[in-house]
Amino acid sequence: MSVRPALRFYVHVPYCSSRCGYCDFNTYVAGEAGRGSQGQWRPAAQTEVRMARAALPDDARQVASVFFGGGTPTLLPVSDLAAVIDAIDSQFGLAADAEVTVEANPENVTPGLLDDLLAAGVTRLSLGMQSADPGVLATLDRKHGALSAVKAARLAQLAGFGQVSLDVIYGTPGETSESWRRTLEAVIDTGVTHVSAYALKVEVGTALARRIQRGEVAPTDDDQAAACYEAADAILTGAGLPWYEVSNWAVEGHECRHNLGYWSGDDWWGVGPGAHSHLAGTRFWNLRHPTRWAQALATGEDPVDGRETLTADQLQMERVMLQIRLAAGFDPAELIQGDATAITSSLAARGLIEPWGPRWRLTRRGRLLADGVTLELLDSRIDHGP
Ligand SMILES: C[S@@+](CC[C@H](N)C(=O)[O-])C[C@H]1O[C@@H](n2cnc3c(N)ncnc32)[C@H](O)[C@@H]1O
Ligand code: SF4
Repeated sequence: MSVRPALRFYVHVPYCSSRCGYCDFNTYVAGEAGRGSQGQWRPAAQTEVRMARAALPDDARQVASVFFGGGTPTLLPVSDLAAVIDAIDSQFGLAADAEVTVEANPENVTPGLLDDLLAAGVTRLSLGMQSADPGVLATLDRKHGALSAVKAARLAQLAGFGQVSLDVIYGTPGETSESWRRTLEAVIDTGVTHVSAYALKVEVGTALARRIQRGEVAPTDDDQAAACYEAADAILTGAGLPWYEVSNWAVEGHECRHNLGYWSGDDWWGVGPGAHSHLAGTRFWNLRHPTRWAQALATGEDPVDGRETLTADQLQMERVMLQIRLAAGFDPAELIQGDATAITSSLAARGLIEPWGPRWRLTRRGRLLADGVTLELLDSRIDHGP
């Protein structure tokens, strides 16, 4: 009998106190249209949770994890976040061991905030540190100093958070190998048990992309970014945080269960403006603008803006793309549902995958080329498929 996937909630908070020049997430600062909707966020989010229950009347699953992302969830009063946790618990039931994550910016973290989050049932804090280099933080338009994330992580541990994660970014124009190494050392010194390290993506339409276009800052160097990834993997692994997903490292048992569920194809309901949901192969996404999303919910309308049901082929593509990123490994034949002998030998011969128990997984070099490996696996299915 196949086990039903877990049910999870992602909750989007679309507000920031200022916009970082590299970020194109669906988020609004004071003065931008939509920020006025901040007072409407809580009732709208509660209504959306009730709507989710009405859409899943016979679903007996308790909720395995909740992830408040943004934007900056901690710009809202903690009572707003608590009200949504309560709504999820009363409508669906939160599993006794549910993981409840809140993303926070270091400059907002105070002992009082941390106590309130713990009292609301939050179990995991994810802090956006980005770098310990003041020059890199300035290029990224971050509003916190180099040490405030370190301080925030320590405060969170002292307050009693057993799960604290730091997000860092590599490949920022002007960053050197030495400054990236110092960032990693600062991360490790905090004793956090989870780290996400992302390559800076220069998103079209952002202030950073315009500055690069005007020649004010140099574009990111791909070789330098690859070297940063390799350094991160070596240093974090050496410190007792092995990789568990291409961009994520954790002490064993401290992996983010919410994100693991996402990569493994679990079901999740996305609450909030622009939030995406995935239920049994159907995807839908909400109206992107916070005011339009809140108004739809206030007037009893569906806040969903679009919907698609994935074909068997799309589902398989998605499975390959997500599963090869996991350190748990994969069975190439199962992934492409066919004879994978030739492609497995070819990828292994080029040092992109390695045996992992009875399965295979990406090597460090393979992780740098994960998208290419995905395409090769999918192409081999087309070349040699039934
Ligand atoms: C969207 S933020 C939300 C949390 C919080 N506001 C923060 O800044 O940490 C989540 C993570 O995405 C990262 N991020 C946003 N834009 C990015 C980009 N263009 N390239 C790489 N990482 C990015 C952020 O730096 C942050 O660590
Ligand atoms: S990176 Fe975080 S703080 Fe900066 S604009 Fe994006 S969501 Fe807001």
